Amino acid sequence: MTAVAETPEVAQRGRILVEGVSRRYGGSGGVLALDDVSLDLAPGSFTALIGASGCGKSTLLRLIADLDAPTAGVITVDGQPSRALRRAGRIGVAFQDASLLPWRSVRRNIALTLQAAGRRVDWERIDELIALVGLTGFEKARPAQLSGGMRQRVAIARSLALDPDLLLLDEPFGALDELLRTSMNLELQRLWLQRRSTCVMVTHSIPEAVFLADRVVVMGARPGRVIDVVDVPFERPRPAELMRTEAFHRLVDQVSLTLADAIQAAR
Ligand SMILES: Nc1ncnc2c1ncn2[C@@H]1O[C@H](COP(=O)(O)OP(=O)(O)OP(=O)(O)O)[C@@H](O)[C@H]1O
Ligand SMILES: [Mg+2]
Repeated sequence: MTAVAETPEVAQRGRILVEGVSRRYGGSGGVLALDDVSLDLAPGSFTALIGASGCGKSTLLRLIADLDAPTAGVITVDGQPSRALRRAGRIGVAFQDASLLPWRSVRRNIALTLQAAGRRVDWERIDELIALVGLTGFEKARPAQLSGGMRQRVAIARSLALDPDLLLLDEPFGALDELLRTSMNLELQRLWLQRRSTCVMVTHSIPEAVFLADRVVVMGARPGRVIDVVDVPFERPRPAELMRTEAFHRLVDQVSLTLADAIQAAR
């Protein structure tokens, strides 16, 4: 296959630079969740983070989102600390626990992220996003009335509502069945190609990582660190059929072996 296709509207904003970042929890005797991680993520790129449970993937995502601070090293977006971007509501996040407000409806949970950033609420656009994640009819439902997978989809719609420069997704499709997951993968790719936010997604699914990402970052545990970065050369848009090709399976195998080595080394 050829290299990633050039799209006319490739983003100019959103270069994420992670330089020598460490995060220790609980003082000197505590857990070194991340140790000296460096990454340079191009504007408009799609990066998947994979690695064993506890290797620091969510920690790294939280640090990029400025929801936590590193104990060493620096993270910048276009040369600035990500704080300014977060405060302007230009970072869309969907974390493992969808963290929706229980007393607010689906629509109003999505609107909140815009209101919190001091942005205008476009209800029509919110309903479009709800439709996009397959939740039409549930606009007025409360989170407790939804399944785990439905709540995750609300969180994804919410992260997209900001039309963000950075899109940070932590296992966004973990609670979905295979079929829905594949269709959400295609939908996410379509949206991302339209807007080209710089996207970082944590996933435990190697096929999902290879299908969506330009680069797969394989992390290892104890301490959490980057073991390998695998480039994914398939051109876009990538059709679902790609997942049935030999080239795709070969790359999935390569990433699986790297990940297995990383897990072995951490034992
Ligand atoms: N707030 C915290 N206080 C103390 N330790 C923490 C905290 N958050 C994470 N850790 C520790 O840091 C390490 C990395 O956690 P993190 O949640 O980043 O892992 P992960 O790769 O996202 O795992 P998973 O795949 O299970 O979600 C773990 O050892 C965890 O126990
Ligand atoms: Mg995690």
